[in-house]
Amino acid sequence: MTVEHDTVLVVDFGAQYAQLIARRVREQRVYSEIVPRTTPLADLLARRPRGIILSGGPASVHVDGAPTVDPALYDAGVPILGICYGAQLLAQQLDGHVERTGGGEYGRTPLTRTDSASLLLGDTPGDRTVWMSHGDAITATPPGSVVTAHAPHAPVAVFEDRDHARYGVQFHPEVAHTERGADLFHAFCFDVCGCRPTWTHTSIIDEAVDAVRAQIGRDRVLCGLSGGVDSAVAAALVHKAVGDQLTCVFVDTGLLRLGEAEQVEETFRRQFQVDLVHVKAGDRFLAALAGVAEPERKRKIIGETFIRVFEEVAADLSDVTYLVQGTLYPDIVESGGADNATIKSHHNVGGLPDDMRFELVEPLRNLFKDEVRAIGEELGLPEEIVWRQPFPGPGLAVRIIGEVTPDRLETLRHADHVVTEEVRRAGLYRDLWQSFAVLPAVRTVGVMGDGRTYEYPVVVRAVTSEDAMTADWARLPHELLERLASRIINEVPGVNRVAYDITSKPPGTIEWE
Ligand code: XMP
Repeated sequence: MTVEHDTVLVVDFGAQYAQLIARRVREQRVYSEIVPRTTPLADLLARRPRGIILSGGPASVHVDGAPTVDPALYDAGVPILGICYGAQLLAQQLDGHVERTGGGEYGRTPLTRTDSASLLLGDTPGDRTVWMSHGDAITATPPGSVVTAHAPHAPVAVFEDRDHARYGVQFHPEVAHTERGADLFHAFCFDVCGCRPTWTHTSIIDEAVDAVRAQIGRDRVLCGLSGGVDSAVAAALVHKAVGDQLTCVFVDTGLLRLGEAEQVEETFRRQFQVDLVHVKAGDRFLAALAGVAEPERKRKIIGETFIRVFEEVAADLSDVTYLVQGTLYPDIVESGGADNATIKSHHNVGGLPDDMRFELVEPLRNLFKDEVRAIGEELGLPEEIVWRQPFPGPGLAVRIIGEVTPDRLETLRHADHVVTEEVRRAGLYRDLWQSFAVLPAVRTVGVMGDGRTYEYPVVVRAVTSEDAMTADWARLPHELLERLASRIINEVPGVNRVAYDITSKPPGTIEWE
């Protein structure tokens, strides 16, 4: 049964952390969405939010054209929480004062409570460490509000006007470095806004199933499976909704990791008994890639071949009307943000052509990756799939530098398997964004047994990241690196050296091509 969820909207002023704010609210089991700051007030209120959060942002309230909101918002009877820039804007628009003090704060900062009781900071007394990132500072609160905490360079670090339900925090409660940040969101959602915690994984599944049924009716639906978590969860949800009206297509490009194709087959055909078309197109991809070394050409060939194969299968299924895509919420937000400078346009399902005749079904379009994983687990997908690290559409081909041949694929697949196995054994697989092997196109001299070798190195790459936009090389334990090197050289024919990539992104990218 569909419940109407209490909603907290996040007005985005170009914050690095807007998504994180929405996630923190959802972690309180309250539905949250990000809206552009240009959204007209009437549209905001039409969503009937129980609370509104004004996010941080890179601007100063003192510059011409600084982003703002319609001040009528403050009299609409909806509780407001301003964070960083949002708090400064709130203070300025409500007759407080924001100054360029010349002494900003960046990073970990001690927060000191004043004597005034605080709804946001709760009953627990004592100071705490918070994460600050501001140049301007609020120096006078709006009339009617009290200061409940300050910091060395923020005389007003938290202000509260309980009568009008207007709250401002100079620090960032949404980042992990802020102590008890989750408690602050809890206080805002429940004590200030009076929300009900209905946004649970079971409710998400039930509603997605209802929505898919309503959209598809009795028609047939197609889903492309990549082996990754998003398409797998989308397929499992749609299967729960419409059962055998669903046909899944899995294009095995021959560029997958060891056991990946079998895992998809096992899960969907045998465990879920989904109608699965498994296209073994490895030879076709390899033939198209023969003699090609240039990375962009390789990517283009793979993309095009994928589309051709998919179209051929789709043509055989002429009675299908709908196509499932595993589009996630960040894909939509990042592509449409009004103020975000560094955004990446996402494409899905390996770049399917625009002129495909299908209507799209996107059951995950309101969800974050961690919610998708939780739902995958609840739907009974194996851990192998739910927690699989991201893998690029062009597969191992962009980790083989130079030409892709069956032998080189075999070498890389084997080395990659050793890396995955050892990283898992060390208990680090879920902590790393990605960990994998790369096969360069140079040969080096070595000595094994009593003889000279002249063979290829394998490069191990392991990175930590929040979202793949930036990444840091992982500080893997030396013992793990040693085991990896030793196993790869001993077990993978044709390899006589192992190197570890210590490049962050930027300047490197995560993949080598
Ligand atoms: P880079 O190498 O640009 O990769 O730092 C960022 C993230 O994207 C993945 N990646 C891809 N994913 N199709 C995909 O679906 C692609 O063509 C592709 N190229 C890179 C990469 O694995 C990393 O997680």
